[in-house]
Amino acid sequence: MKNSLIVANWKSNFTSAQAVSWLEEFAKEYSPNENKKVILCPNFILLPSVSDYIKNSNIEVALGAQDVSPFEKGAYTGEVPASLLKSYVEFSVIGHSERRENFHEDEDMLKQKVSMAAASGVTPIYCVSNEDMIIPMGATIVAYEPLSAIGTGNPDSPERANEIAGKIKERNINVSQILYGGSVTSDNVKSFIQMDNIDGVLVGSASLNASGFLQIVQNA
Ligand code: PGA
Repeated sequence: MKNSLIVANWKSNFTSAQAVSWLEEFAKEYSPNENKKVILCPNFILLPSVSDYIKNSNIEVALGAQDVSPFEKGAYTGEVPASLLKSYVEFSVIGHSERRENFHEDEDMLKQKVSMAAASGVTPIYCVSNEDMIIPMGATIVAYEPLSAIGTGNPDSPERANEIAGKIKERNINVSQILYGGSVTSDNVKSFIQMDNIDGVLVGSASLNASGFLQIVQNA
C-alpha cells in the first residue's frame, strides 16, 4: 500500500470554538493509519488553539498553514513568516489558485515563499493548475488542482489527473509527491488515490464537515 497524504484545507472558515467542535467529532472515530498522513490546514489565527488541542488530546494529525510570508520576520505588516509558523506547522500550502487570483501572487513571489518555508523547515505543498506552471526547486510536494474543479463539484477525471501528475513528475525531478485537489469527496477519493502518479488529495469544501472528512480519510 502506498503512503498517501490527505490534506484538509479549511480556507477562511471556523472560529476557535467551531474548530474545536470539528476536532472533537473527528477524534471520536479517527484511528491513525501509518499509510495515510492526515494534515489539517486551519487559517493562521486558529493555529495556536488547534495545535494545543491536538497535542493535549493526542490526535495523530499534522498541521499545515495555508500560506507563508515571502519575507523573514521584520517590518512586513500583516505577514506571518515561516520562522514563526514553524512552532505550529510541518507544512504550508503555497500558491493556491485563490491566492494567485485574489492576491496577485506571481512566480517570483511564490519562489520566495517556497525558499522561506524550506529555510525554516516548513514543507511546502505547492499548488499548480496545469502541468506547464513553473515549480520552484524547493517544492517536493505539489498539489495539482485544475481551476474548473475547485469548489465546483466537477472534479477532473482520475485518468486525466494521473496523466497530468505524471507529466509534472517527469518535468520536475525535485517533485516526489503529487496530490490531486478539486471537488474531492468520500465517493471519488479512492479513484484518485489508486492512480499510480497520485500520492494524496487536497480537500476543500468536503473537509469542513468532520464526519465527512473522516469518511474521506477512511475511503482513501
Ligand atoms: P474543493 O477545494 O475541495 O472545495 O474543490 C479544493 C481546494 O481549493 O484546495
